Amino acid sequence: MCTTNSFLIEVSDLTHIYDGEIAALKRVNLQIGSGGIIAIVGANGSGKTTLIKHFNGLLHPTEGNVVVKGMNTRNTKTSQLAKEVGYVFQNPDHQIFCSTVLEETLFGLKQMKIPDTEARSRAARALEAVNLYDMRDRHPRQLSHGQRQRLATASVLALETQVLVLDEPTTGQDFVARRQIMSLAMSLERQGRTIILVTHDMSLVAEYATRVIVMKDGQILTNTTPINLFSQDDILAETGLKLPPVIEIYRGLDIQQTTPSLTIEDMCDLISAK
Ligand SMILES: Nc1ncnc2c1ncn2[C@@H]1O[C@H](COP(=O)(O)OP(=O)(O)OP(=O)(O)O)[C@@H](O)[C@H]1O
Ligand SMILES: [Mg+2]
Repeated sequence: MCTTNSFLIEVSDLTHIYDGEIAALKRVNLQIGSGGIIAIVGANGSGKTTLIKHFNGLLHPTEGNVVVKGMNTRNTKTSQLAKEVGYVFQNPDHQIFCSTVLEETLFGLKQMKIPDTEARSRAARALEAVNLYDMRDRHPRQLSHGQRQRLATASVLALETQVLVLDEPTTGQDFVARRQIMSLAMSLERQGRTIILVTHDMSLVAEYATRVIVMKDGQILTNTTPINLFSQDDILAETGLKLPPVIEIYRGLDIQQTTPSLTIEDMCDLISAK
């Protein structure tokens, strides 16, 4: 089924049931346009990973439809969807199987039949972007978990897809690596790409997300801006989501300003200007 609308991803009445009994998604509706960093948050088991696995055909709907750039994932080859939606797994060990870091980064490019010179330059760029170029000849087993996660990101980054889906990319990363991954996401967004990011890190949502989707029990509770979410105490309480420290600090201050700052840097500026 082809559609002529402008959405990159259109999810309609999506239900996913595992093993005939576990309803992980229940009639989810969602439309994702071009551009932006879209965070998906929610408690463990709320259906975040199940939802994003539908975006590149890793999972198919039990009921309902997912349409990516006009292609219904039910009848589109995964290889076709992989050209549009890059997907980085929550656990990098589900994705890494080559014997060097460079080969791993080249693998998807070879599958897509990208000519060798172009593939090598894309792989080098992607490895540099995640600070792993100097480790290109190492076996992935020699890398730390955080480095393997960045390798998994580089392999997908190299494919230069319009949509990049990242499942908890900053979990287990130190402060510097987290910043590096997120500035990469921002530079991709500036190039017009769409970044979909599952995370438990509400500071990351505050600092980087343009929208945030909150999930609970296989459904979307709200799809809004971070600033709007942080003012909805009922949703936060219902989902057990914690406010990021920057908003906690803001609430504790006597500042007559309508919108709180979303980064520590802006908050420091605000306080020192008082
Ligand atoms: N392969 C599977 N087989 C059976 N049930 C599954 C499978 N994967 C997930 N589930 C179940 O589906 C529901 C949603 O899981 P999902 O992994 O999508 O949640 P999540 O929000 O990504 O959680 P987390 O934050 O822990 O990663 C949970 O009840 C989970 O136990
Ligand atoms: Mg998950």
